[in-house]
Amino acid sequence: MFAIEIRDIHKKYKGAITPALDGFSFFVLPKKIVGLLGPNGAGKTTTINILCGLVKPDSGTAIISGMDCMKEMDSIRRFIGLVPQQIALFESLTANENLLYIGRLYGLESNMLANRIRYLLERFGLDKHADKRIKAYSGGMKRRANIIASLLHEPDLLVLDEPTAGVDVQSRAMILEFMKEYKNQGKTILYTSHLMDEAEQVCDDVVIVDEGKFVINGAPKDLIKSTTNCKRLEDVFLHYTGRVVRDTPTDE
Ligand SMILES: Nc1ncnc2c1ncn2[C@@H]1O[C@H](COP(=O)(O)OP(=O)(O)O)[C@@H](O)[C@H]1O
Ligand SMILES: [Mg+2]
Repeated sequence: MFAIEIRDIHKKYKGAITPALDGFSFFVLPKKIVGLLGPNGAGKTTTINILCGLVKPDSGTAIISGMDCMKEMDSIRRFIGLVPQQIALFESLTANENLLYIGRLYGLESNMLANRIRYLLERFGLDKHADKRIKAYSGGMKRRANIIASLLHEPDLLVLDEPTAGVDVQSRAMILEFMKEYKNQGKTILYTSHLMDEAEQVCDDVVIVDEGKFVINGAPKDLIKSTTNCKRLEDVFLHYTGRVVRDTPTDE
């Protein structure tokens, strides 16, 4: 069974001229790190939001471990951990307070939750800062705390939207290391990035999306081999998506 099946998804936002997703399909095998790669505005965040039940597609199906994202979100919630592009923590609460609050929303038992928070704070190098308010955290620290928040219930599928965008080198190395470690525990990871060197290094498979359409997928090594004159995944990416810059304003 696939961990994720996206079939022929169409999505046009209200007022938009072009669709965000235009018949997009792809599949993710379990226990892999899969990179969803594409230029600005390609439809990566829209895809992830559909998987997490935050955006409703106009048509098509999205299935996680055999469960329909449009109908069975209550069951899916236990299996999926979403790390959103934007930091989703309360600035005026400490990391510990934020994580306790989120863990309780998941209905986690308090001893188990306390242990899990302790383990994750230490794993992400934040144990000494557990009682500091999020607003005092650096960008990289916020990013790491944001990831911990999605891991409290130990999801089988971890979905991260641009987890390494704009973070310091050490935080990025720690995040990527953790992704590999989590995969080795038998988990599936889908993550978006526009950093091709990073994706080449960490992904078992990549899916390239452009203008809401599937472009190509495969293992980075195989794609590099099968595309003419390509030495790196970045060459493959430019080969398929072209060199025209995509200046989509973001809401960040
Ligand atoms: N809430 C929204 N309302 C209208 N248009 C949107 C909205 N969110 C995204 N879009 C548009 O949909 C397209 C895909 O966006 P997005 O999924 O955020 O791409 P990516 O994450 O790959 O940069 C872009 O053209 C973007 O401007
Ligand atoms: Mg995005």
